[in-house]
Amino acid sequence: MIELIDLRKVFRTPTGTIAALDGISLTVPDGEIHGIVGPSGAGKSTLIRCLTLLERPTSGSVLIDGTDMAALPARQLRQGRQRIGMVFQAGNLFDSRNALNNVAYPLVVTGTKKSAARARAQELLDLVGLGDRADSYPAQLSGGQRQRVGIARALAGNPSVLLCDEPSSALDWATTRQVLEVIKRVNQAIGITVLIITHEMAVVRQVCDSVSLLAKGKIEQRGPLGEVVTDYGSQLARDLIPLATAPVGAARAQLEVSFSSADFSIREVLRLLADLGSDTAIETGTIETLAGQRVGRFQIDVDQDSRERVVAQLQAAGLHVATPEAPPDLLADQGEEAQP
Ligand SMILES: Nc1ncnc2c1ncn2[C@@H]1O[C@H](COP(=O)(O)OP(=O)(O)OP(=O)(O)O)[C@@H](O)[C@H]1O
Ligand SMILES: [Mg+2]
Repeated sequence: MIELIDLRKVFRTPTGTIAALDGISLTVPDGEIHGIVGPSGAGKSTLIRCLTLLERPTSGSVLIDGTDMAALPARQLRQGRQRIGMVFQAGNLFDSRNALNNVAYPLVVTGTKKSAARARAQELLDLVGLGDRADSYPAQLSGGQRQRVGIARALAGNPSVLLCDEPSSALDWATTRQVLEVIKRVNQAIGITVLIITHEMAVVRQVCDSVSLLAKGKIEQRGPLGEVVTDYGSQLARDLIPLATAPVGAARAQLEVSFSSADFSIREVLRLLADLGSDTAIETGTIETLAGQRVGRFQIDVDQDSRERVVAQLQAAGLHVATPEAPPDLLADQGEEAQP
């Protein structure tokens, strides 16, 4: 279990201080896969560095299985870190060692007998689906395979927590899916708690049980996937079910309609939308299965004059209706304002 309690990290710069983490409290229960998403500068890397104590938090606690990592003296911290397996962005393997020896390495340096370390490494390579590539060197493996060796190596010391920092950012989507499948398989096979830092919502959709949205050093929204996705109109609900862009007709109003199969059948929703009349048009929409439920979002376009009537009609039927927001400015930097 991972528990963060009021975690703060303040950087001093010549122009003032930056609160990169501004009071983060978060619990990830045993065996859960939790995603942390956030825009550039939100504090994701700082959070990972504080979790592994590569960076000392300014205040607050990092508890792994109840042990406060930040309170451990240096020597015990080295042992404490063994509870954490770390998967890096680009695998970070030794080029001069084959897959088996890369995985065995952390065991050998902590004093495990070579034969036992190699046997364990072979087991782990089997677990990530690379049992037959033990002799291959990193240069002979694809990016996704190297990442899977990295996962096997992270598991070598039997950690109770696996931290994945942007595990897929160097991979194409098909390979990303494979790597995520492996993370899921490992999670199910050994019940390890997983924290994935990512800027890709698709990663969250595919493997996470729960998610937190980090922005400007604070957690803005969090919850199990099934809950945040039906918190209609919230940032995470929108990001989890993205809509394709649609043209905006002049002198017409846009409305966003959201629903989940817990409340409606898709047939019902489509019938409701079709019955709105000829002064409305469905511009774009999506229906997906997320956390075991069907969820959908449609953008419809109505005559300004009919807006009020249409909103009332949809709301009376029990659908969630909102006015779509302008797309966020993705290039806006989140952490630049220094406080003197
Ligand atoms: N060593 C440091 N000294 C000063 N400021 C820092 C330091 N490290 C990070 N920051 C600042 O803290 C804030 C959060 O940075 P961080 O690297 O954690 O963001 P991030 O969410 O990982 O962004 P990205 O997605 O771009 O990697 C930023 O404003 C950054 O400039
Ligand atoms: Mg980062």
